[in-house]
Amino acid sequence: MLTLTVIKADTGGFVGHSSVHPAMLSTAEEKLGLARLSGLLRDFRVAKVGDDIALILTHFGSEDEEDIHHLAWDVFQATTRVAQRLKMYGAGQDLLAHAFSGNIRGLGPGVAEMSFEERPSEPVLVFLADKTGAGAWNLPLFRIFADPFNTPGLVIDPKMRPGFDFEVLDLLGRRVARFSTPEEAYDLLLFIGAPSRYVIRRVYRRGDAEPVAATSTQRLNLVAGRYVGKDDPVLIIRAQSGLPAVGEILEAFAQPSLAAGWMRGSHYGPLLPVGWDQDAPARFDGPPRVVGLGFQLAEGRLIGPRDMLGDVSFDSARRQALELADALRRMGPFEPHRLPLDEMEYTTLPEVMARVKDRFVPLEEDEEASPPAGMAAER
Ligand code: F6R
Ligand code: MG
Ligand code: MG
Repeated sequence: MLTLTVIKADTGGFVGHSSVHPAMLSTAEEKLGLARLSGLLRDFRVAKVGDDIALILTHFGSEDEEDIHHLAWDVFQATTRVAQRLKMYGAGQDLLAHAFSGNIRGLGPGVAEMSFEERPSEPVLVFLADKTGAGAWNLPLFRIFADPFNTPGLVIDPKMRPGFDFEVLDLLGRRVARFSTPEEAYDLLLFIGAPSRYVIRRVYRRGDAEPVAATSTQRLNLVAGRYVGKDDPVLIIRAQSGLPAVGEILEAFAQPSLAAGWMRGSHYGPLLPVGWDQDAPARFDGPPRVVGLGFQLAEGRLIGPRDMLGDVSFDSARRQALELADALRRMGPFEPHRLPLDEMEYTTLPEVMARVKDRFVPLEEDEEASPPAGMAAER
């Protein structure tokens, strides 16, 4: 069994929250290079989107393998030290715990991993998003695995005909549920249509229960109990040969959806598909963006990556996303550009609201019920 593990963290921004300094990336490369030499890792790549570093690792351990998670933790400690030396912004931002204990889940960094038997040819896609909440993959994942308008293979390919199982996590209730599509597509949508709370964690092919997609699903603010930046989730998807084709997977990003996480983690913005040369947010600390990395696996070696979303065929999606960005920005501090109040709970908004809370005085007993004087007279 091979395990593909992607662990990401923001350990300091260059400049502000926009990108990662090259010295931090080369530190991660060095550390992982040693781990590959020692045999702990089969292979690795270091990638980035915006201010987040993603460690893409293959190994023959299981999911949640302590040594692998510990390695990632140590790498992020090392990149944090570089960030501190260069006085990068928010050095060590996502490392919420003081020390590693058993598993990196819940300590700050995001994790997506999948164990499987490598097929004779194994194309895998890894998507990384910045300025984006954990539920941002819900809509694309539904399109890829349950919508025949996106994925004709659901209709045409006999191996995909049985459909897919979605595992959905309730981030507030700490519960998990499974829905089988196509039969339960509407029930699935009931929940994943609310991506701030319900997040697709895994997708399996029905019939053989083959794992086909995995996401990082934590909500940092819920972990920390305060605003500590956005989750900026990652997504792994296996492709082809009885699974969605690479192009069916990419197609889900051709109609940009809105995601929560833009500016101060407090605004909705379009999820902009970009090439690697455009991965760093700019306007209004955004817009939220996604990069795609494509690999072929060869006995666990990562052959690639290729830039999957930089192609000209996504130019129209980028244009549409930027038009959406213009429309939303016209709303300024108003909802629905700004997140609804309950979503602002973990930002600095409650603190500033508390300062003016005395402005509101209770209404007199009968004030609410009686119409204004003028209106009463007209009747
Ligand atoms: C959004 C994000 C940025 C920051 C903003 C303020 O997810 O990371 O938009 O929220 O730049 O950052 P601070 O409060 O660190 O000055
Ligand atoms: Mg940051
Ligand atoms: Mg980020």
